[in-house]
Amino acid sequence: MTTHFLSLQFLLPFILLSTTTTTLAQPAPAPGPPAPTNITKILEKASQFTTLIRLFDITKVGDQINTQLNNSKQGMTVFAPPDNAFSSLSAGTLNSLSDQQKDELIQFHVIPTFISSSQFQTLSNPLRTQAGDSTFYNFPLNITTSGNQVNLTTGVVNATVANSIYSDGSLAVYQVDKVLLPMNLFGPQPPAAAPAPEPLKKKKKTGDDTTATGDSTANSSGGVNLRLELHGFVGGLIAFIAMVFYL
Ligand SMILES: *[C@@H]1O[C@H](CO)[C@@H](O)[C@H](O)[C@H]1NC(C)=O
Ligand SMILES: *[C@@H]1O[C@H](CO)[C@@H](O)[C@H](O)[C@H]1NC(C)=O
Ligand SMILES: *[C@@H]1O[C@H](CO)[C@@H](O)[C@H](O)[C@H]1NC(C)=O
Ligand SMILES: *[C@@H]1O[C@H](CO)[C@@H](O)[C@H](O)[C@H]1NC(C)=O
Ligand SMILES: *[C@@H]1O[C@H](CO)[C@@H](O)[C@H](O)[C@H]1NC(C)=O
Ligand SMILES: *[C@@H]1O[C@H](CO)[C@@H](O)[C@H](O)[C@H]1NC(C)=O
Repeated sequence: MTTHFLSLQFLLPFILLSTTTTTLAQPAPAPGPPAPTNITKILEKASQFTTLIRLFDITKVGDQINTQLNNSKQGMTVFAPPDNAFSSLSAGTLNSLSDQQKDELIQFHVIPTFISSSQFQTLSNPLRTQAGDSTFYNFPLNITTSGNQVNLTTGVVNATVANSIYSDGSLAVYQVDKVLLPMNLFGPQPPAAAPAPEPLKKKKKTGDDTTATGDSTANSSGGVNLRLELHGFVGGLIAFIAMVFYL
């Protein structure tokens, strides 16, 4: 009897423990369709992102992110500058942008793949953003890492990834300390892409200068040459046809 009682006493805590764990575990596996991800909701919850939320709204990039998350398996990553990053831009920066440029600025903060914080050091530069062309004068975004530190450079600003706001394996949102200003909108413009045709123009000009009075003759002789060539061509054609018929 006593042994039986002792063993029950010994087992009782375990029985209690197992029943409490099962009751605790019960509410977790509540099934149902997962609520669609809503980037606005995530940013609202994090607070301090009212400017970014407004820009996501007016450019419709917020809706686009939600839709893309629903339709793609690649996931997405958003670099989110807080309100103080926007307010430290020089006055009028945002207002000087056209609607399309605002769209490009915001798309530049969105990467069309999910990047976990441990994947940062495996990325190769430049990153591909939703703004498109990542070549030097367009929308390059480079990343450098050292230990846990992650820096971004656009060629115009250097930013630091401050912390992770959200990550669910499909969407990652990281706070960055600066607005990522793309080269295409805020950086130096590429050197004028006309150095090749210029020498040709110059040569023509110098040629014109030396034959200043012969300009009209050059023009008319050009016309004559063209007519001669046409005559030659027509003559050749006639000869060719005649030859075909003769054969
Ligand atoms: C996303 O969340 C915002 C704010 O909570 C809400 O206004 C908006 O309607 C939501 N969008 C969708 C598609 O549920
Ligand atoms: C999400 O994707 C499913 C299946 O592809 C589709 O039926 C649904 O309409 C989509 N929802 C939204 C909000 O895009
Ligand atoms: C990131 O930027 C900070 C501040 O500009 C700098 O001190 C640090 O060395 C940079 N780290 C890397 C990995 O580039
Ligand atoms: C980004 O990295 C690429 C590859 O290393 C480099 O060619 C390019 O100049 C870098 N761009 C900027 C803006 O730092
Ligand atoms: C960004 O960092 C690079 C290298 O660390 C530096 O050469 C460059 O001047 C910095 N640019 C700005 C705008 O601070
Ligand atoms: C050269 O010829 C073109 C076409 O016939 C004519 O329009 C043009 O005025 C001429 N230029 C000169 C300098 O004669």
